[in-house]
Amino acid sequence: MKGIILAGGTGTRLHPATLVVNKQLLPVYDKPMIYYPLSALMLAGIREVLIISSPEYLSHYRTLFGDGSRLGLQIAYAEQQRPEGLPQAFTIGREWIAGEPVTLILGDNIFFGNGLGPMLRRAVARAEAGKGGATIFSYRVEDPQRYGVIAFDADGRAVSIEEKPERPRSNHAITGLYVFDAQVCDHTVGLTPSPRGELEITDLARRYMEAGTLHVEPMGRGFAWLDTGTHDSLLEAAEFVRTIQHRQGIQIACLEEIAFLQGFITAEAAAEQGRALAKTAYGRAILTAIEEEAYAPLPFGERRADDRRRG
Ligand code: DAU
Repeated sequence: MKGIILAGGTGTRLHPATLVVNKQLLPVYDKPMIYYPLSALMLAGIREVLIISSPEYLSHYRTLFGDGSRLGLQIAYAEQQRPEGLPQAFTIGREWIAGEPVTLILGDNIFFGNGLGPMLRRAVARAEAGKGGATIFSYRVEDPQRYGVIAFDADGRAVSIEEKPERPRSNHAITGLYVFDAQVCDHTVGLTPSPRGELEITDLARRYMEAGTLHVEPMGRGFAWLDTGTHDSLLEAAEFVRTIQHRQGIQIACLEEIAFLQGFITAEAAAEQGRALAKTAYGRAILTAIEEEAYAPLPFGERRADDRRRG
């Protein structure tokens, strides 16, 4: 499974904050926004990542992540000349995807919740299995007309998918996280722009729904899916991250910690990066994770990072 982060766009709703900075580089409390979607891909076990952004900002991401090796990842970069819709990720990325299943996450989507990793890994396993298909994640919201919306029949089967409907048929928004099988690039061919002039990811999801291969995972009450689309929602997202981190003394989206716990990098490599950032809570969290991993009792059936690395 490969992963794509779409981090382009114009960010006009956040002007003037985004006049010279790409939206996904703005901080959400203590780290760049893109750390959050990248952490979700890593929790899904994905190690090959393509970051797509507009030509003027791509070099910033290169500076931030390089080739990804310090996180045990392989990160590649591609330009999106103009933001003409989310499914463009699959035309721009087609060669890089090379016929494999692929997970797409929007660079401004933040997910947090117990069991996120296992939920994502189940979707990944499904897309990689013989029958494949696609998985999308729904989330109940108060203002569904701002999102892609999915409606279900009495048996819980998905019956309609609409992009920003004026009269939504349900309160279930489709989040910006999509796990696709190896056929996704073929399904993208022939999509046509919507009235707002963009290729729509909802049209792509509908193709899977009509083929009977769309899985919908509801993200329930235990999950947070945070919006970063306006100045207010961005501040609220930052406050959420700050509240959880302070209360629990943990970090949300600490990439080096996740890389270590997933077995992507060694304790030594993680510790070196933690020490370099030791003046921050972020850096100290990396060092704490290494210490705690060595002593914490494990839930039944789980293995330590070092054992996972040994296979
Ligand atoms: O956040 C979830 C929603 O994202 C879904 O519910 C909708 O179905 C989906 O269409 C999308 O809606 P938005 O209108 O919120 O997408 P937006 O145009 O704001 O773009 C989302 C992110 O993707 C943003 O960080 C910019 C980036 N982007 C967007 C487009 C259209 C690109 O990098 N390239 C693009 O061409």
